[in-house]
Amino acid sequence: FGFVTLLVVLLIIDDIAEVEEETAEGGYVSAAHCFLAQQVISLRKNILRFLDPERDISILKGTLKPGDIIHYVFDRHSTTNISENLYRLLPTVSPMKNQHYRRCAIVGNSGILLNSSCGPEIDSHDFVIRCNLAPVEEYFQDVGWRTNLVTMNPSVVQRAFQDLVSEEWKERFLQRLRSLSGSVLWIPAFMAKGGEERVEWALRLILLHTVDIRTAFPSLRLLHAVRGYWLTNNVHIKRPTTGLLMYTMATRFCEEIHLYGFWPFPLNPQGKPVKYHYYDTLKYEYTSSSSPHTMPLEFRTLSTLHRQGALRLHTGPQD
Ligand code: CTP
Repeated sequence: FGFVTLLVVLLIIDDIAEVEEETAEGGYVSAAHCFLAQQVISLRKNILRFLDPERDISILKGTLKPGDIIHYVFDRHSTTNISENLYRLLPTVSPMKNQHYRRCAIVGNSGILLNSSCGPEIDSHDFVIRCNLAPVEEYFQDVGWRTNLVTMNPSVVQRAFQDLVSEEWKERFLQRLRSLSGSVLWIPAFMAKGGEERVEWALRLILLHTVDIRTAFPSLRLLHAVRGYWLTNNVHIKRPTTGLLMYTMATRFCEEIHLYGFWPFPLNPQGKPVKYHYYDTLKYEYTSSSSPHTMPLEFRTLSTLHRQGALRLHTGPQD
């Protein structure tokens, strides 16, 4: 056990060392970072060879009907049916149709955001993407509050809203959704089996209370397409995280992409502890073989793109 622990610690130190090396070499947290238009354009072009984010961001109404059988993306042998509620909430046109923004922020959920005072800076972007219905109200100084698109893995309903077991939890969930008025709620409903009931409960509430949000359900090919893109670029990702999915898709709609809250390490560059999520007590799991993600590898990839001027990774207080 001692050896395994030591190995894990060494791996973490190794990851952080690489980041610090990047800091020293390439101005990793340099304030004078400039976006290189050529980098951004060629990245977008290459990604478009694998997916069309405008289309793949959501299945559209015309393509399915209630009762249709869907095979889960990761559990191919398991199926689910398109419910009446889900059908009603499928968009008729892509929620991102013809949308282009100059500056976009993608907010990951790392505790590195705590005490960052990045809130106003995040909110100053033209389009703000958040992940997994992460709370903003109590943390707005560090994370901002504006949201144009927010993701919701079905597991969030259980993890953050106690499976809506009581009226109180239903009300909390509804309040969170109401606070998103006009935004896109992106629900990966067909990725892995086990979440269908949670999705259904959420959709029922949205319809029952006519919540003013625009739902979207990613296409069945999106995940494989994103994974394929990164694989051909020699980034061997088991299962892309929500953050990487959002970044990959945002290249289609945004000229400048700024990432906040991406830091999959338990220590900051100064060696101080960093919470896995800024808002809960979840622990780091990526070192376990059961974790579907390879976050440090994703982080290194994003750091490289930062150095090349294709994106901007913000990891310090208003760097
Ligand atoms: N993230 C990060 N460092 C952390 C926590 C999160 O870089 N310590 C980024 C990841 O890209 C992640 C995103 O922030 O996808 C949102 O965080 P979270 O809600 O934790 O995502 P996951 O639980 O990993 O959800 P998923 O399995 O959908 O990726």
